[in-house]
Amino acid sequence: MLKAVILIGGPQKGTRFRPLSLDIPKPLFPVAGLPLIQHHIEACLAVKDLKEILLIGFYPPSQIEPFINDVQHYYSVNIRYLQEFTALGTAGSLYHFRDQIRFGNPHAFFVMNGDVCADFPLDDLYEFHKSKGDNALVTVMSTEATRQQSLNYGCLVTDKTTHEVSHYVEKPSSYVSTLISCGIYVFSMEIFQAIGEAFNVKQQEYYRNGNGNKAGYMQLEQEILAPLAGTGKIFTYQVSRWWSQLKTAGSAIYANRHYLQLYRNTHPERLAHLHASGDQNPHCHITPDVYIHPTAVIHPTAVLGPNVSIGPDVVIGPGVRVRESIILANAHIEDHSLILHSIIGRNSKVGKWARVEGTPSDPDPNKPFAKMENPVLFNNDGRLNPSITILGCYVSVKQETILLNSIVLPNKELSRSFKNEIIL
Ligand code: GTP
Repeated sequence: MLKAVILIGGPQKGTRFRPLSLDIPKPLFPVAGLPLIQHHIEACLAVKDLKEILLIGFYPPSQIEPFINDVQHYYSVNIRYLQEFTALGTAGSLYHFRDQIRFGNPHAFFVMNGDVCADFPLDDLYEFHKSKGDNALVTVMSTEATRQQSLNYGCLVTDKTTHEVSHYVEKPSSYVSTLISCGIYVFSMEIFQAIGEAFNVKQQEYYRNGNGNKAGYMQLEQEILAPLAGTGKIFTYQVSRWWSQLKTAGSAIYANRHYLQLYRNTHPERLAHLHASGDQNPHCHITPDVYIHPTAVIHPTAVLGPNVSIGPDVVIGPGVRVRESIILANAHIEDHSLILHSIIGRNSKVGKWARVEGTPSDPDPNKPFAKMENPVLFNNDGRLNPSITILGCYVSVKQETILLNSIVLPNKELSRSFKNEIIL
């Protein structure tokens, strides 16, 4: 039997994802029509013998449990939310809930960072881990980045033949390796001994000196993986398929595009060219890939795609054009408006003949790995220059106005055009 843990963090995390995380926890933000962590859950379902998925974080249960109750209807594995009383860190949270993870005697368990997006090859990762025998405590899924990108991630130095990790450095200040951790792991159950030892040392230090980090707070990368490197107990499984992270609001557009592309093979029925001929949206023009929630109402003269996701109860008027964008629940895009490289928040309204546009500056979609840059960039003169436009929830854009490269916080009524601004 196997289990999986998805680390979802809590309300204080995900600040770079604002304003989209102001009204919905980041792990539940819909990408390609599904809450972000539902993609993780679906990847887990494909693993034979995986019997339980534990979501661990410090959100109030009221924010996560409705999602669990909802997905539990569709999926046969057991899904539970375990709430930390405070942020315990990526290793501290695993250690705190070790009895829950061990319960039922699983052979091993996956750990997935809740904010990564990928075509997760969990079966292959587990097979690889097994092939390394009893010595292997952990296998880290890894991918190749550029030298520059690698500095933002956990970097691995490995033996090319055995794939053993000899050196692990989290966000190095100078170049170490272009092989980086994807934040997806498989652990043997004996890992709790290693975490326990690190925990005890830290506790003793804390009580002796009264200094250091909060008691119980431990980071997986720095405090467990880095010391294990070079001991023969940590291995890496390198993948070349798509992988990215959802850190900034802008990176959601990039992840949306890739999950939609993935559906072509895994769930073609979810893509909109099939829905488009249904009763609800009779002849609307689709350029693949597009996801349309069945409750959305799209006017037949609208043109959608590529890389567009339309949420529940959205209304799209006549002559509207949407491209490379995410339109969240209950938004209303009125006649002949144009939405490009943008995210339209829940319950927002874009008036007739308006133009909401971001500048595409995300990485080459054809590269297997690419990191989305932070969308909030400043020019040399200090002026804001975000690369996509984001409307928070309940924003209203006046008809015949232009909103270019701007971020709008929730509940704003815009009465004129804006360019390169954060509208607070
Ligand atoms: P940054 O670039 O600084 O965000 O680093 P990172 O990508 O290594 O992220 P980090 O280690 O902070 O988080 C990895 C994943 O674990 C994310 O999905 C977080 O939401 C989650 N996470 C981070 N801290 C905690 C924690 O204290 N408890 C739990 N349960 N999850 C956490």
